[in-house]
Amino acid sequence: MGTNYIGQPQVRTDGRLKVTGQATYAGEFTARDLVYGYVVQSTIGRGRITSIDTSRVVAVPGVRKVFTHENLPEYLKRNSADYSDPLAPPGQPFRPLHDAEVLYNGQPIAVVFAETFEQARHAAALLWVEYAEEEVQPLLRQNLDGATREDVPDPPTARGDTDTAFAAAAHTIKVEYSQPRHFHNPMEPHATVAVYKEDGTLDIYDKIQGVASSQQYVCGVFGLDKKQVRVVSPFIGGAFGSGLRPQYQLFLAVLGATELKRPAQVTLTREQMFSFGHRPAQLQRFRVSTDAKGRLTSLDHTSFGETSRFEKYNETIVAWTGLMYDCENVKLDYQLVPVDAYTPNDMRAPGGVTGMWALESAMDEMANAAGLDPLAFRLLNYAERDQNEDKPFSSKALRECYQQCAERFGWKDRPTQPRSRQEGNELVGFGMATGAWEANQQKASARASFSADGQLTVGTATADIGTGTYTVMSQIAAETLGLPIDRVVFNLGDTDLPESPIEGGSWTVASVGSAVQSAVRMLSLRLLELAREYFPRRFKHAELGDVTFSDGFMQAWSSEPLELTGLLEKAGKEIVSVGVDHSPRKDRGDYSTYAHACVMVEVRVDRDLGNVRVERIVTAAAAGRIINPKTAENQILGAMVWGIGMALEEEGLVDHRSGRIMNANLAEYHVPVHADVQGLEAIFVEEHDEIVSALGAKGVGELGIVGVPAAIANAVYNATGVRVRELPITLDKLL
Ligand code: MOS
Repeated sequence: MGTNYIGQPQVRTDGRLKVTGQATYAGEFTARDLVYGYVVQSTIGRGRITSIDTSRVVAVPGVRKVFTHENLPEYLKRNSADYSDPLAPPGQPFRPLHDAEVLYNGQPIAVVFAETFEQARHAAALLWVEYAEEEVQPLLRQNLDGATREDVPDPPTARGDTDTAFAAAAHTIKVEYSQPRHFHNPMEPHATVAVYKEDGTLDIYDKIQGVASSQQYVCGVFGLDKKQVRVVSPFIGGAFGSGLRPQYQLFLAVLGATELKRPAQVTLTREQMFSFGHRPAQLQRFRVSTDAKGRLTSLDHTSFGETSRFEKYNETIVAWTGLMYDCENVKLDYQLVPVDAYTPNDMRAPGGVTGMWALESAMDEMANAAGLDPLAFRLLNYAERDQNEDKPFSSKALRECYQQCAERFGWKDRPTQPRSRQEGNELVGFGMATGAWEANQQKASARASFSADGQLTVGTATADIGTGTYTVMSQIAAETLGLPIDRVVFNLGDTDLPESPIEGGSWTVASVGSAVQSAVRMLSLRLLELAREYFPRRFKHAELGDVTFSDGFMQAWSSEPLELTGLLEKAGKEIVSVGVDHSPRKDRGDYSTYAHACVMVEVRVDRDLGNVRVERIVTAAAAGRIINPKTAENQILGAMVWGIGMALEEEGLVDHRSGRIMNANLAEYHVPVHADVQGLEAIFVEEHDEIVSALGAKGVGELGIVGVPAAIANAVYNATGVRVRELPITLDKLL
């Protein structure tokens, strides 16, 4: 295969490090004299701390310090704006240990630092706290009266007249969908090790999807200069949005390090992973109509999402309704409902999977009402243009996704009547849904160096949240300079590297990959300039387009190939380096850019017990050029598993009296296990798109979950004749 890697199923370049335990995650960094912090959380949902007694805590051997709001250094209390981070929503960011006020149940109210983790944990249990408790209203439905549009970005503008169209329609539905709060539980809990150095600078190892976010936060809060704060984050054991904003353990670890003048570590427990950020509970109302043939004539969608009382976290939920189908009359509304909880945060396909679970359920209901097959209904109402923005799509192979998915899945064998097929004691149902996700590209910078020993080193401050960034970037770099991939070193997750956007929004391959390609291209041009100078006979008149780079050599036309290491030797250079800033193409904004998918599901539902089993799922995805089919498939499959969890299992149970999360552990917060996951298949539909990114790549990180919950709900309806509009679809709702 020579040195062609793009489009190949390259195995993970960091795989060996991970499976042999040599990949170091944030909480595993160590330093001499490290102190361990343990967090104490509030046990009430709203009110004030009236007394906090640390006397028994500090008496425990090994304890070095307890921080509470009573002894937080004054300078850390001065200005709330300093606590913001690049992704902070409107409002006032939460300030840990700032004052006696309790804003939510599980809020960090103290941190104990000791010589060992066990000493800190034991001592933390001895903290005595008294509260003046106030009435707690943690639930969305309790607080609907407080729904507001203030600080909420406007949804896409209404078009046409939905009232008139609805009144005149042949078929109509009016329905409401809801989903509970979902919690992030990546395998690696959030952790920070902050290493304080004698000159007052800090090296920080943090779990974060973009090191610049942590750096900006720490500089703001602690009044430090960028040069004094280096943030490093080489490996992340899953994040999916939980690591977009710096979390409170970063503040607490840096507090410990700067006050004790020692390295300090704070790792959250699994239970504490339920104490920050979550996918918000949501209530969505739909009013939809079609003409006699089943063509959509109106779409009315209003969504109510919970947020905290101190920040306005918002999502794109209703925008999808105006985008996905051809419809002249559309009205969208989105409101936030403040509750006594921490601010929600992004969770894989934020807004998209929430909006599409409801929209794609509604489309299934509408197809039934109009007497059409759900696939035929979608093809009939196919959007050729983005009507929200009145723009053409840069590419949209959704029709091909529908076709290929239907063929692979065997959609034609679908039971046309609900509750009409039974095998043994199980009811069988087929369901489908559309998936889509934004194909964004951000500005990114990268540096590439070729050294005399034959190694290509590329660096940019992106992250690898487990998605395969190391691997994909190494593929792009290796192919572009024509080197075997084992001669490429790709560095990420370090504020000393060139700037990169956070790893989120599924834009890393398009953004950072294009920057890496551009940097290595620039490097090859530098090498050509050297070749023109030192090997003029072969290269004097060569332009970049005349030269091929392959297997460690460069060759102009069909002249004798020149080994790159030989070039550096002759030129007397140890290293050749270039840095580039890469931006999306200028006319990109003239187009609407999305990745698309079709999901088809077969479920089996026990006729007597009502429990749902997913028998198989096929996803056909169109996401531009696929750089690595192996890691891309892995993203889609993982997202499908998550979609099963969202449809059937995940539910953060909130005690309405206290705001406490009652199932803050992985025994009671249910997620799919091996027995729940079978028959998953992902196929990629070809797409050529030169507008979306220089590489032609869209992202696949989030796309895979978007259609899954609705496809499962629709299959459950097909199997049982019961329409469940409230997630998760547990057996009680089917009996
Ligand atoms: Mo994603 S929710 O941008 O990690």
